[in-house]
Amino acid sequence: MDRMEVTENFAGITLPGHLHTQESLHAAATFQFRDTDVVIVTYPKSGTTWMQEILTLMYSKGDGHLAKTVPNWARAPWLEHVYFKDMLQADREPRLLTTHLPCHVLAPALKKAKAKVIYVARNPKDIVVSFYHFHKMAKFLPEPSSFEDFLMQFLDGTVQYGSWFDHVEGWLSQRRELDLFYITYEDLHRDLGHAIEELAAFLGCALRPEEVSAIQQHSSFPAMQENTMVNYTLVSCDILDHSKGQFMRKGIVGDWRDHFTPLQDALFNRVYKEKMRHSSLRLHWPL
Ligand code: A3P
Repeated sequence: MDRMEVTENFAGITLPGHLHTQESLHAAATFQFRDTDVVIVTYPKSGTTWMQEILTLMYSKGDGHLAKTVPNWARAPWLEHVYFKDMLQADREPRLLTTHLPCHVLAPALKKAKAKVIYVARNPKDIVVSFYHFHKMAKFLPEPSSFEDFLMQFLDGTVQYGSWFDHVEGWLSQRRELDLFYITYEDLHRDLGHAIEELAAFLGCALRPEEVSAIQQHSSFPAMQENTMVNYTLVSCDILDHSKGQFMRKGIVGDWRDHFTPLQDALFNRVYKEKMRHSSLRLHWPL
């Protein structure tokens, strides 16, 4: 099956045409948020699906029924996707929303509405590895010729969804202006129970210890790998070629060490330093 090569240009980045149109992107940019909205914001492959699962379970008080019967894209739909208006349950509160869009597109509307933002970031070296493997299976993304080429495009910011550096810098530089909770994929790994408690405190969602344990159990990697409502096996092979890999691939920290050559690592560190040299963000990934 051929690749779906259509892309949309929007706000200085390119996005896959299979999921986005100019109309859906403009609708996202003019969306009217509410102060009760909770918006998960990520650069792709940073732990988006994991956070969608955690928040679904949090609002269900650890009951796995919703997470096991409704796909993640219906529980926390992407604002910019073509099917968003069909998925949005306008009468639900809070509305759980997801986006990969850059900050400058959404920040004014989020600020005005005082919506809550949860920004999940991940070590960019692990993102590039995860994104590379995802490109191999996702028919709506360009086929990567080699890891080396993909890495160069990632560092140049010419991959779909744009530059990781701009995404993180854009959103986190607004963290005091927005009602924003910042957490990393690595934090979730290190102590999921503690992360759930911190998220619950931010969202004003009281949880009993046994509810925290149930959320932890249902959102563990093995549980999510088995859950067809979140492991993307519901998506047909002409869109996600399941013979080329799994969406729930490894779910570990530091997989980049098995992919990067010493030269690629040195180049990454150089580009990272250069791109982040004016940044006031204190990101803590070991580079
Ligand atoms: P890997 O490809 O490194 O395994 P996103 O949802 O933003 O697209 O991110 C997908 C990445 O998050 C994949 O990383 C996936 O395996 C990982 N992931 C999803 N759920 C997870 C979980 N419960 N625990 C650990 N990693 C998880």
